[in-house]
Amino acid sequence: MKKTVIAGNWKMNMTRAETKAFFREITTQIRAKGGCGVVLCVPFTDLAAAARGARGTGIKIGAQNVHYEKKGAYTGEISAEMLREAGASYVIVGHSERRQYFGETDETVNLRARAALAAGLKVIICLGEMLDAREKGVTDEVVSMQTKLALRGVSEKELRSVIIAYEPVWAIGTGLTATPEQADETCGVIRATVASLYGKKAAKKLVIQYGGSMNEKNAADLLRMPNVNGGLIGGASLKPAAFSAIVAAANENEKR
Ligand code: PGA
Repeated sequence: MKKTVIAGNWKMNMTRAETKAFFREITTQIRAKGGCGVVLCVPFTDLAAAARGARGTGIKIGAQNVHYEKKGAYTGEISAEMLREAGASYVIVGHSERRQYFGETDETVNLRARAALAAGLKVIICLGEMLDAREKGVTDEVVSMQTKLALRGVSEKELRSVIIAYEPVWAIGTGLTATPEQADETCGVIRATVASLYGKKAAKKLVIQYGGSMNEKNAADLLRMPNVNGGLIGGASLKPAAFSAIVAAANENEKR
C-alpha cells in the first residue's frame, strides 16, 4: 500500500448521473499512478459507475459500510463479496456517523473489518473522540481503546490491508479542524497502540489518515505532520477541484 492515501467519503451524496460527471472531470485532473494513493468511497448504487469512471486512472473505489455475514436474512445489508463484484476494493467501517446514528459499536466495527479483510477488501477503520472526551482530557484513552477493539483478531498480515482514519467527531462536517499538532499527537497515540499489538515495524508501515473538515486550504499543513499519512475527506471530496487540490498537496508532500 502507498505511504500516503487520500480517500474521499461521499456519504449519502451523488446520484449515478452525478457520479459519471464527477469522474469525467476528476480524471482530467488526477493521475493516481506514481503519486499518492487515491480512493473514493461512494454510495452502493454508485459503485459500478465509479469503478467504470476510474478505469485506467489508478483511482481506487470503496464503499462506506459492509455487513459481517457472507449472506442470508439481513434485509438492507450488503456483503463484502457483493462490494467486490460491484467494483470496490476498499470499504470504510466504523464511521462516526454510523456509530452515532445507526448503532454501530466497537464490536460490530471489528466484525465488519474482519469480514471485509477476509474477503480481500482493504479497510479504512474510522475512530475518534467526541468533544466531551477531548474536553475531559481522555482522548488518548478513547482512541487507544477503539484501536484495540477494532483490531481484535486481525492478523499481522491482514493489518497491511488496514488504514486507520483518525476523525475527531467534533471536527466532522463542522468546519472545525484539529490543529496539525493535535492531529499528529493523536495519530501518534494510535500508532503507539498498534506498535504495542503488532510491533514497531508494522506500526511504522500503517497508514493513519486524519479526517474532519480537511480541505484544500488546510491539507498541506496536516499532511506535513509525521504521523499523518493521508486524509479521509467528506465535504471537499464532492468537489473535483477541491479534491484534486488535496491530492496535489499530498503528492507535493511525498516529494519532500
Ligand atoms: P468532513 O467529513 O470532511 O466533511 O468533515 C469527514 C468524514 O466524515 O469522513
